[in-house]
Formats: sequence, structure tokens, C-alpha cells
Amino acid sequence: MTTGDPSVELRQHGVVLLRDIYPGDSLTRLKDAAARCFQAIMAETPIPERYQFNRYSHSVLLTALLDFGCNSDELMAPLSAPGLDRVFADAMGPAWTCNMEQTWVRKKFAPIRASPSGYRAHSWHQDGALGVCFLPESEPIPPMTELLTCWIPLNGCGRDSPGLEFVRRRQPGLVHFTELDDPALRRRFSPREFWAPKFDFGDSAVFLNDVLHRTHALPEMRHDRLSVEYRIFPA
Ligand SMILES: [Fe+2]
Repeated sequence: MTTGDPSVELRQHGVVLLRDIYPGDSLTRLKDAAARCFQAIMAETPIPERYQFNRYSHSVLLTALLDFGCNSDELMAPLSAPGLDRVFADAMGPAWTCNMEQTWVRKKFAPIRASPSGYRAHSWHQDGALGVCFLPESEPIPPMTELLTCWIPLNGCGRDSPGLEFVRRRQPGLVHFTELDDPALRRRFSPREFWAPKFDFGDSAVFLNDVLHRTHALPEMRHDRLSVEYRIFPA
């Protein structure tokens, strides 16, 4: 059920979809810079080390876009969308901070299209596993890293290009990586809790560290998707 208060919804379900918080062309420069960046990467021009390009997730640090026509104010501007500060502050405390070393821009490929070698869609995971070293299953699972993710698609997605799928419920802690395969999670949670929203350009999703999610890619999707994810931490 939607409460209408994004902070309450985030707390209850671990994820909230914020519709049309980036009106008009407010994300266009970021989107164009991201497109140019991944074109350069696909052209196999030398990729500077500082981009921290990951060929599996096809991601670079957002700061790579400084080389593709965005200045630092433009990189940070999406975090100033009306209402976001309160959502972050309610979840992370008033002195929240964005860690640019964990803030990425990604390209996800339509399954039908040729993707670069090594590329994989993200499988089920929790962002709170960031920096966590899992032990054998018999050992206690370590605590999650405190953070939230502000995810912004740079084109509409979830219909004809890969979006995100969530298990829309809070988890009490990290799920061991050996339990993260899709059939096991489908058995573990109700079908009603699997949620793959359709995003329009200008929408955003904010989700907490415990929420299970993955790339939502269907065989019939024909277009690729660009997205940015900001990582917000308690100060
Ligand atoms: Fe994630």
C-alpha cells in the first residue's frame, strides 16, 4: 500500500519510487555525457584508470563524466531534487553524505542485443553487502554497511529496456550469497513481493541497504539502459 509519504514508504518497504522528480530536460546533460562516455568505452579508446571501469557491470564512477561535458555541479545536481533531502535525512540522519567513490553510472544491455564480452546483468544482491566479506555459511553473517541508494535511470526502462526488480520487503540482515539464486528467492518470498516497476525518464528509486534487487531484463527488450546510482551514507 502506498502511504503517500516517501519516507514512510521507504521505511516500510525498503524501496520507494519517486515519479517525475526530474522534470523536463534536467537530466539531459547527464544522459548525453553518459552516452558519450560509453560510446568512447565501446570504441575501445584507452580507459583512464580513474574511471574504475568495470566490464562485468559495464560501469564507471560518475566522476568519469567530467571528461564528457559535465561539471561537478551538474554531477551533483540530481541530489538537490525537491524532497530528496528529507527522504535521505529521515533514513540516514540529517548529516547524510554522498560518497563519490561509490557513485556509478552504468549501461545495461538489452538481452537481444550484442553485449561486450564479460558483461553480466546484476543478479540478486543487497547494496548493504558493499565491503562485506562473507564467511562460510556456518559462520554468523556480518552486519550490513549502512547506506542507501538513489537510483536514477537516464532513459525510460522496465518496459523495453532493462530496469530493476526488487523484493519489496525489508530484510533483517544480509542474505548469504549462496541463497541468492532466483529460484531459491522465488520459493522464499511471495510472488506479490517481486516488483519490477516501469520507470519513465525523470523518475527515481530510493532503496535501503537490506533490499534485494537485481537487473530486470526480459528477452524481448530491445533497447539498452543508462542509469546513475548515488550512494548515500550517514555522516
Ligand atoms: Fe545494487
